[in-house]
Amino acid sequence: MKFFIDTANLAQIKEANELGILDGVTTNPSLMAKEGIKGNDAVWQHYKDICDIVHAPVSAEVISTDFAGIVEEGKKLATIDPNIVVKVPMIKDGIKAIKWFTDNGIKTNCTLVFSAGQAILAAKAGATYVSPFIGRIDDSSWDGVELISQISHIYRLQQFKTEILAASIRNALHIVRCAEVGADVCTCPLDSILGLLKHPLTDIGLAKFLEDANSMK
Ligand code: E4P
Repeated sequence: MKFFIDTANLAQIKEANELGILDGVTTNPSLMAKEGIKGNDAVWQHYKDICDIVHAPVSAEVISTDFAGIVEEGKKLATIDPNIVVKVPMIKDGIKAIKWFTDNGIKTNCTLVFSAGQAILAAKAGATYVSPFIGRIDDSSWDGVELISQISHIYRLQQFKTEILAASIRNALHIVRCAEVGADVCTCPLDSILGLLKHPLTDIGLAKFLEDANSMK
């Protein structure tokens, strides 16, 4: 399973990249706004800055909702860097645009996916990635990981090539469970990635090893 970081914060992207286990980045308009970025030029420069840090797929989301607008915006985003993946919402014109991007060699991430039916449509349109939002599903009393499992089963059975990118990750356990049920990619906040490191027995064991090592000096 690949690890993407789900943030537009450059310091966090650098920190995750320096771990050596980062395979890409996802952003969305809310994450970009959180960084205080204003205006098209600044947004574009920020995507460029991210691409300069991580030489791997970087999802940049369109804000148009009509076919012509999505295609025009996506084409421009794709010129920023060869690693840009155009992130398109799961709407009717979004599906049409994903098919257009697929036919024109531009990679896509179909976002705001909350059902297996939506994931089937994204795959039929040739999306590079499909992003089911598991944390938001959990928030509404459904099981987000169960959706990843269902999509994984369908994609394997139907031999769809679209990669399942588990999004809206809230904790380290989400990452482990997504790996168990066959997600191809997990896009996570830095805290959830670092949460995988934590185990009290590791800390206790290391403290004892260091204590014994010191006693031999
Ligand atoms: C990533 O592609 C999604 O936009 C993101 O994971 C959504 O996460 P949230 O539900 O925590 O906002």
